[in-house]
Amino acid sequence: MSDTTLSPAAPSAADRAMHPKNVPMRVRHLVESQQFTVPLLMELFNRSRGMERVVARGGSLDYQNKILATLFYQPSTRTRFCFEAAMQRLGGKVLSTEQAGAFSSEIEAERVEDSIRIIGSYSDVIVVRHPQAGGAKRAAQVSPVPVINAGDGEGGQHPTQALLDLYTIYRERPLDGLSVAIIGELDKGRTARSLAYLLAKFERVKIYFVSPPELQMKPDILEYLNEHSVRYEVESDIDRVIREVDVVYQTRIRPDRVRDRLELHRYAINSSVLEKMKADALILHPLPRTVELDKTVDDDPRALYFKQAANGLYVRMALLTMLLENDPS
Ligand code: CP
Repeated sequence: MSDTTLSPAAPSAADRAMHPKNVPMRVRHLVESQQFTVPLLMELFNRSRGMERVVARGGSLDYQNKILATLFYQPSTRTRFCFEAAMQRLGGKVLSTEQAGAFSSEIEAERVEDSIRIIGSYSDVIVVRHPQAGGAKRAAQVSPVPVINAGDGEGGQHPTQALLDLYTIYRERPLDGLSVAIIGELDKGRTARSLAYLLAKFERVKIYFVSPPELQMKPDILEYLNEHSVRYEVESDIDRVIREVDVVYQTRIRPDRVRDRLELHRYAINSSVLEKMKADALILHPLPRTVELDKTVDDDPRALYFKQAANGLYVRMALLTMLLENDPS
């Protein structure tokens, strides 16, 4: 995917497609997490704090004339419900399809570009989950309204998940100087990939990528970290890093991706792993989970994953306000 990082000095054609003409420091479509700068992240997080107060008083009517469309070609529980709740808490309305491919009026699934052009004429912002990496960018390139990537492909991105992950950490401690273990099926992990890009924005961060060697983080992310002088280690043994890190970001490993199912348990967080972790470590997981995160972890005060999912509402409300305010359409 081409670089869509904000670049006010010399915007590329891709930049111009991604950002409104007169506000080059703003995101128009959210396709990949590296579009965010630290000031933009802080603006998002300040707004998210405000949204916590808005939700506590039941929501607002500020966006009652706005319509959000969710166009999901893959299943989702959290992301779709969360965006729909976010728009409703802002007073707006929602149009939704969970099986966008299956419910096309054609026998062959309609191309995302055609669907987006049409749905964009019915709505003010579109949230899309697409089975191909780059699917959200294809949508953004033709959309008359802002497009938000809710996960694209295997090895693509899931930037709003990473934003809420980072917000959850930010609510607990400073982001500069963090050490973070990102564990799981990293080569195809779109949440892990998006989070790595965001962590790279901060000073003195160190990332440990922990995975079976055959499922390790892809070179594109490692090259990006090298280019931005971000420290990282690639590791296959969870025991070698678990004592060191401030944040454990656990993700799934699908059973069909490992040769031996015992591998799954080697990367699991359970009560014996908890004993080795720092007393004030944070445990995050984008969910859903399988065996990699034992239910006995839920009662540990370091387990933040349900709070993390709840934070998604505030972050996605904040994001919607930023995109809708900026949109020239
Ligand atoms: N975390 C996440 O993306 O969950 P869903 O697949 O349920 O949206």
